[in-house]
Amino acid sequence: MLIKPDTIEQLSSTELQTLLIQYQSRQLELEQQNRGLSEQIALLESHIVKKTDQLTDKNNTLKKTIDELNYSRHQLLEREAKLNSILNASIEGIIVIDPAGAIVSVNTAVENIFGYHAEELIGNSIRLLMPIAMRKNQDLYLEKYLRIFIPKALGQIREVEGLRKDGLLVPLDMTVAEFPLDGVRYFSGIVRDVSARKLQEQQEKEHLEKLAHVTRVGLMGEMASGIAHEVNQPLSAVVNYTQVCMRLLQSENQDMAKIGEIMQKANQQALKAGQIIHSMREFVKHRKIHRSTVDINDLIYDAISLFESDFKQNLISMRFELTKSLPSVFIDRVQIEQVLLNLIRNSIDALKELPQFTQRQLSIESSLNPINYIEVRVKDNGPGLTPQQQEKILTPFFTTKSSGMGMGLSISRSLVESHHGTLHFNSKEDKGTTFYFTLPTENTDYGRNET
Ligand SMILES: Nc1ncnc2c1ncn2[C@@H]1O[C@H](COP(=O)(O)OP(=O)(O)OP(=O)(O)O)[C@@H](O)[C@H]1O
Ligand SMILES: [Mg+2]
Repeated sequence: MLIKPDTIEQLSSTELQTLLIQYQSRQLELEQQNRGLSEQIALLESHIVKKTDQLTDKNNTLKKTIDELNYSRHQLLEREAKLNSILNASIEGIIVIDPAGAIVSVNTAVENIFGYHAEELIGNSIRLLMPIAMRKNQDLYLEKYLRIFIPKALGQIREVEGLRKDGLLVPLDMTVAEFPLDGVRYFSGIVRDVSARKLQEQQEKEHLEKLAHVTRVGLMGEMASGIAHEVNQPLSAVVNYTQVCMRLLQSENQDMAKIGEIMQKANQQALKAGQIIHSMREFVKHRKIHRSTVDINDLIYDAISLFESDFKQNLISMRFELTKSLPSVFIDRVQIEQVLLNLIRNSIDALKELPQFTQRQLSIESSLNPINYIEVRVKDNGPGLTPQQQEKILTPFFTTKSSGMGMGLSISRSLVESHHGTLHFNSKEDKGTTFYFTLPTENTDYGRNET
């Protein structure tokens, strides 16, 4: 009920009563509302206090976490600095690349080996450090090349060449490792500059080649009287044969067939003298040794294949007893093949002396002996050697063959010995002969020593 103030005096007491009651109930209502509001405010306040406490707690935890993070960051930086100083102190170059071949990091040794500053390398392709000849092939396919090259190289020491900033090539020993980081595969290459070692190896090789040459020349000197004797023999035969021919030509009834036969013999002897001189020249020649990694069984098969027709013609049966997966040898292939050819040729010659219809057998064995040397045995069931022959066969010019020169075995022995191996034989009269020689395997000191 709305009442204007100036009409209040005109109100009856009943109306005033009603008004008062209305007023009181309104006031009560207001008081109630007020109470509800205060309760809500108190609730709100307590809520705020609680939340503030929680926030303060969280804040403290956050501060602690930040402190901890700062500490670990500090430790991480310290560790990184330590690691860097270790990496930089390393004499080995360490190059990290990503799967696309981009250089991610390098240490100081890499700068020294290749002559670049780290900034010039980082972000650049690894191709920059590869020899140009290699780069050409890899230009388009670097990723593919790395995918193939790296698994093969993992965990192995490889000899490679690097390209320096000044354009010079540097020989390196390299190992490769792989590591994942944030789901990406990175590769680290550890490279060592082996220029000094290579130079020394080259010098040693040259020195030993000279030494071997001097030794051979010395040996020749010692053999000079033998050589003179050897050459003299066919020459005197030539003289004798030609004298006989001249006499026959002067005689009345000239037997041309006979003269032809004698001339033929003179011709053979002259050729023999020539061969002796030729083989001496070959022996003394200052020939460079060309070593390579060789599977001895392959070499044996190669050598044997040259005698196929001799085996057939002379009804010789051939047996192989080759040990599989032997370590490789680092040898001059031609020289060791020469040794095998000499020994096989000698066995064939010996077997040819056996009476017809006797079983002729030649066998070749390869094995690894107790001191880790490769051993090759050439065995025949030929007539064997008498004790007197056994004493002489390794000396130059000893031969029992009309067309032999007696140089095969002494040259073979000198070739095997120049490879740090040995050549021996066993022989029993009427039973057969076995020649065997050893060679150091590639992974031994002697096996790699380029002498
Ligand atoms: N497997 C063998 N069985 C029997 N005798 C052998 C055997 N190998 C070598 N000999 C003997 O040793 C000698 C010397 O052998 P060597 O190979 O040095 O010379 P060669 O065979 O006579 O001549 P060449 O200089 O052409 O090799 C031979 O003449 C032979 O008498
Ligand atoms: Mg011979």
